[in-house]
Amino acid sequence: MKHLLEISQLNQQEVKNLINLALEFKNQSKNEDYSKFSLANIFYEASTRTRVSFEKAAKNLKMSVINLDIARSSEQKGEVLLDTIKTLEAMGINILVIRHAQEGIVKFLAKNTSKTHIINGGDGKHAHPTQALLDIMTIVERKPNLNNLKIAIVGDIKHSRVANSLQCIFKLMDIGELRLITPNEWKPSASLFGNLTHSLEEGLKDVDVIITLRIQKERFLPTESLNIDEYCKRYTITPKLINYAKSDVIILHPGPVNRGIEINDTIIEAKQSLILEQVKNGVFMRMAVLKNLLDTTI
Ligand code: CP
Repeated sequence: MKHLLEISQLNQQEVKNLINLALEFKNQSKNEDYSKFSLANIFYEASTRTRVSFEKAAKNLKMSVINLDIARSSEQKGEVLLDTIKTLEAMGINILVIRHAQEGIVKFLAKNTSKTHIINGGDGKHAHPTQALLDIMTIVERKPNLNNLKIAIVGDIKHSRVANSLQCIFKLMDIGELRLITPNEWKPSASLFGNLTHSLEEGLKDVDVIITLRIQKERFLPTESLNIDEYCKRYTITPKLINYAKSDVIILHPGPVNRGIEINDTIIEAKQSLILEQVKNGVFMRMAVLKNLLDTTI
């Protein structure tokens, strides 16, 4: 794999291999030394989980890490992003993790680099492939028989790159059923995979996995608005609502969480909640992705 830009570039076996490798790292049955290599995080949007876990993953592999401070970079003097990327490439940085509000920009940058691997750390509403990979790893650990699973994604599907990447990975991995539960105004114009419903009660019925999404206000158009109170009345995941799901349901959220809006405090702390397990797995899955890229000659 030269770059990791979106889930559609992977096949089912490659996803399985990444999950197995990430689990080996998690079980500490694998130790690797990539101290010859370096990674730079280039984040134009806020991040805690993705940026820090790429840094941790790279350091676990003994790589050196640079976090580019965009506010103090030469872009403030007018340098365009492609020139910044080419500059870092000329310095010999091996992997660039890029997060940007513009959809497709990471693909454009990947086409215009020759010696550097590019990882999409999230581009606008388009894709967040490593989030989908760590989510499927977290699900497989608890519920390995994917073909029988009923999964519900709840919330702001329209503005969510996570929802897009999850639809791609669930289709690829042939999960039993996917339900997309969203208010009418946040319905995507077309779903990649899954059945849309507005009813939380109907959508959660007998599901094995619930994935709630953050309301992504930063991606609302000026014409789009949200009545938070109305949303909470209809869609906040509460202990009462999870009774519609199977008794051994697991609950995921990519984070960051708006407590009390997408999900109730009691559920966040409940034993069914795997939110912090997702964060933990993020480091191991990103180690697997880094190893896979560095083992590919370019
Ligand atoms: N899930 C996720 O991408 O979180 P961050 O914005 O904190 O990286």
